[in-house]
Amino acid sequence: MPGGPFASLTGPSGSPVTLWQEDSLAGLGRRLSKGSADVVVTSPPYNRRVPYRSYRDDRPRQEYLRWMERLGRSVDRALSERGSFFLNVGGSPSDPWLPWDVAGRMRDRFVLQNVLLWVKSIAIDRALVGETAGLARDLVVGHYKPLKSNRYLHGAHEYVFQFTRSGEVPIDRLAVGIAYSDKSNVKRWRTASADRRCRGNVWFLPYTTIRRRSADRPHPAPFPPELPERCLRLHGISRVRLAVDPFVGIGASAMAAARLGVPFIGFDLESEYLDETRRRVEALRTED
Ligand SMILES: C[S@@+](CC[C@H](N)C(=O)[O-])C[C@H]1O[C@@H](n2cnc3c(N)ncnc32)[C@H](O)[C@@H]1O
Repeated sequence: MPGGPFASLTGPSGSPVTLWQEDSLAGLGRRLSKGSADVVVTSPPYNRRVPYRSYRDDRPRQEYLRWMERLGRSVDRALSERGSFFLNVGGSPSDPWLPWDVAGRMRDRFVLQNVLLWVKSIAIDRALVGETAGLARDLVVGHYKPLKSNRYLHGAHEYVFQFTRSGEVPIDRLAVGIAYSDKSNVKRWRTASADRRCRGNVWFLPYTTIRRRSADRPHPAPFPPELPERCLRLHGISRVRLAVDPFVGIGASAMAAARLGVPFIGFDLESEYLDETRRRVEALRTED
């Protein structure tokens, strides 16, 4: 793609957000110098027939997996020595191997340092959580897509794989931590230096409810900005000189980086999605 970037923006605290409309595998090589990205956080197409504007999401499985392997190679070149590659992939009830097949293609290049489960909807039985939770009834939260099946449960989670080069990249667990619900634990555990504990590797992040799909979420498969935001925090904000999303879509990762003041580069094939990314990043300036 000739010419300059699709958009050069600045986040609310002045950090640069650069968007490129081009094939990301080529773009990662063209626009980034070797080892310049400290975090790559992305959700590629899953090859599940999602109706993107031009990208055909229904390739033969092996061809798709070879493409993912090439993505791994491009990320490998762009990632810094102690960088993190957060790769979000979801399977379907009838194809649960998909995320693991994709993760397997990264195995020769990266160590799988953490596996996070992104839970999109959950049901919690009042009887199991005790009085302190204060539930009046069973709690059911999050997006629910009914599935007509006598074989499968409805899919309520996806994976986020954290790949690193060594498997020994320090993470900032408490930056995405949570306060103790039983405060006596703060004293009891010597490791509990403050009222904050590790959240663990199951992250409940529902989608915000939307009224009109086309206007409120003009993309068929976005992730919520809180997901890349947590990944950036987990890696450690002070250690991120540049974050990159090779499949930026409507810009959840761009928004997360801009909010945190982290320089960001994103790629997508579609001008409509990039326009929406631009709009959402610019809107952050008027946020409280
Ligand atoms: C799962 S979506 C990413 C959604 C994004 N995380 C968000 O929150 O909006 C995958 C994106 O990859 C884009 N895409 C597909 N092939 C691409 C390629 N070769 N280079 C760059 N982008 C591509 C699609 O247009 C789509 O927007």
